[in-house]
Amino acid sequence: MTSFDAFWVERADDGMRHQVVTRNVDDLPEGDVLVEVFYSSLNYKDGMSAKGILGVTRDYPHTPGIDAAGIIRASSDPTLPVGEEVIVIGFDLGMNTPGGFGQYIRVPSGWVVPMPAGLSLRESMILGTAGLTAALCVEKLLWMNAAPEQGPVLVTGATGGVGSVAVALLANLGFEVIAMTGKTDQNDYLSGLGAETIIGRESLQENSNRPMLKPLYAHAVDAVGGPILSNVIKSLSPQGSVAICGLVASSSFDVSVLPFILRGVNVLGVDSVELPLEDKARNWTKLAEEWRLANLEAMATEVELGGLSESIEKIMEGGVVGRTLVRLR
Ligand SMILES: NC(=O)c1ccc[n+]([C@@H]2O[C@H](COP(=O)([O-])OP(=O)(O)OC[C@H]3O[C@@H](n4cnc5c(N)ncnc54)[C@H](OP(=O)(O)O)[C@@H]3O)[C@@H](O)[C@H]2O)c1
Repeated sequence: MTSFDAFWVERADDGMRHQVVTRNVDDLPEGDVLVEVFYSSLNYKDGMSAKGILGVTRDYPHTPGIDAAGIIRASSDPTLPVGEEVIVIGFDLGMNTPGGFGQYIRVPSGWVVPMPAGLSLRESMILGTAGLTAALCVEKLLWMNAAPEQGPVLVTGATGGVGSVAVALLANLGFEVIAMTGKTDQNDYLSGLGAETIIGRESLQENSNRPMLKPLYAHAVDAVGGPILSNVIKSLSPQGSVAICGLVASSSFDVSVLPFILRGVNVLGVDSVELPLEDKARNWTKLAEEWRLANLEAMATEVELGGLSESIEKIMEGGVVGRTLVRLR
């Protein structure tokens, strides 16, 4: 019997309790593949699970962690042999299936992507779900024929996980990036990722009754929702697109049909969770090859399981800069 360390979330009378416990691989659910996890990462959704926010995790006690990268230690799938380095993200991992904040996970083979050549376990989790989601946003913008000569691309929540990777990917592809942030002290960080202009969050936070605003952005990536997203849609240039993936400000937005029917604006939805495995794998390969980022370490803050509780508070307050890498070995 192999025992391992796991971050453990329980509901208590006075709120959610977090601790690091010893578990056994025999306690893990049935599955085709047993993975020894070397790295995970902290995503906003893990914070929601650890805080007991409805809609992510039904039953506690639970080990969150929607991301995991590690080495296969047992497998009933001949296409995924023992010893292979793999990435597991999304699907039910860390939601109602024990997740990457434990040193072992057991999952269906349909959730497992072999590590693309050129990406290390560590690099894959600096990117994690947030990084893959940023890549999916960029991919969708390119599918809509977004091109640098059309004008600047706005990234909201720019110092966050999705935002940081989106800024870096777009800048590397030659786009002029305008980074919107609520953090007044992170200009150097965002410039380092490739942002040409940095604007304060308050400039787009006001509710406006006007159905359309001056067109300022060719395209956008939005991870925040709410009034900011409404204003972004109203401020897109004709034929502009916004890829939307998040809800840290609000899960709703309020616009008329006018930007769509008078400017041909497009809203592109991005889901990294239930996306078919081949779409995930294609984007992991891009992140390892032509979209490879040289400045990944500049985005990373490393924590171990014992430090996760503090990092969870920080991400739920919108205070994280870049990506929180969780080292399990
Ligand atoms: N659709 C998908 O498959 C998918 C995948 C990954 C993530 N997501 C979602 O995308 C969002 C971002 O995830 P993440 O992991 O990047 O989170 P994160 O690291 O916490 O980044 C979110 C950033 O948004 C900004 N922000 C925070 N609170 C805000 C508020 N009230 N109003 C406006 N901006 C605010 C902050 O950046 P600044 O201080 O720089 O403004 C913050 O760092 C979350 O809602 C997450 O659930 C969805």
